[in-house]
Amino acid sequence: MIEVRDLEKRYEGAKEPVLKGVSFSLETGALAAILGSSGAGKTTLLRCLVGLEAFDSGKITVDGVEVLGQDRLPGKSARAEALRQLRSRVGLVFQSFELFPHLSVLENLTLAPVLVKGLSRNVAEDRAHVLLKQVGLAEKGSAYPDHLSGGQKQRVAIARALAVEPRVLLYDEPTSALDPSLKHEIAETLRGLKPTGITQIVVTHDVPIAREAAEIVFVLDRGRIVESGPPSSVLDNPREEATRRLLGPSKSNGGGA
Ligand SMILES: Nc1ncnc2c1ncn2[C@@H]1O[C@H](COP(=O)(O)OP(=O)(O)O)[C@@H](O)[C@H]1O
Ligand SMILES: [Mg+2]
Repeated sequence: MIEVRDLEKRYEGAKEPVLKGVSFSLETGALAAILGSSGAGKTTLLRCLVGLEAFDSGKITVDGVEVLGQDRLPGKSARAEALRQLRSRVGLVFQSFELFPHLSVLENLTLAPVLVKGLSRNVAEDRAHVLLKQVGLAEKGSAYPDHLSGGQKQRVAIARALAVEPRVLLYDEPTSALDPSLKHEIAETLRGLKPTGITQIVVTHDVPIAREAAEIVFVLDRGRIVESGPPSSVLDNPREEATRRLLGPSKSNGGGA
C-alpha cells in the first residue's frame, strides 16, 4: 500500500540532507508508528508522502499512485493530476486538531463531503453519525469544539479526516497537545479503526502512543530509519542508542547517570 525507497531530501541551504535514504513499506490496513526525536525528519517525511514537499531522489508509491519528487518533474498538468489522486486517498491529522470553532461537530464532519465530494447533506450527515460512533463520540454531533476535551477534539478531527473516505490516514504528533491521561483514548481510537482496513501511520516522539497503538514501529534518527519491528521488540529490547534515548534515561547506555 505504501512503498518508500531510498528517499533523500535536503532543504535548500542546509548542509546535510534531512532524509538520508529512508526505505520502508506497509501492507494495506497496517498501523505503523514512525518514532523519532524532534528534528529527526518526521514531518518532512510525512509531507513527502502526501506530495506537499518535493524530494531529491528515491521513489514513493501510495495506493498505486507514484508521488512525484523534484527529480522527475513531469508537465504541470500531470503533476497536478497525480496530486489530486493522492489527496483523495490520503487524510492528514495534526497535533492542533484544526477544527472549525464556529461549526458544530456534525457540521465539521459534513463540510468537505458536501463541498468537495458533492454528497447530499442527508447522506453526509448519516455518514457523519456512523463516523462519530466509530470514534466513540455518538452523542457529540451538536456540540461545538470549545466544549470538548482535547482527546475528544482529536477524535473529531480523526472522524473528519475519515469523512472523505481516504485509504490512508497520516497523523503528525496527534497526542502532543494532550494530557498524558488522554493519550490512551487516541491509541484506542486508532486501533478501533483496524476493521475498516485503512492504512495508518502515526509520526510521533511520544513513546507511549507508539507502544500502545502501533503494530510496527520505525525509529527515525537524523534522517535514517535505524530500527524497526513490533513495539514489543523495538521498545522493550532496543538495539540502537537512538531508540534508547527516546525511551528515556533508564534505557540509555550507562543509564541512571
Ligand atoms: N521548510 C524547511 N526549510 C528548512 N529546513 C527545514 C524546513 N522544515 C524542517 N527543516 C529542518 O529539517 C529538520 C527536520 O525537521 P522536521 O521534519 O520538522 O523534523 P521532526 O518533525 O522530526 O521534528 C530540522 O532540522 C528542521 O529544522
Ligand atoms: Mg514534526
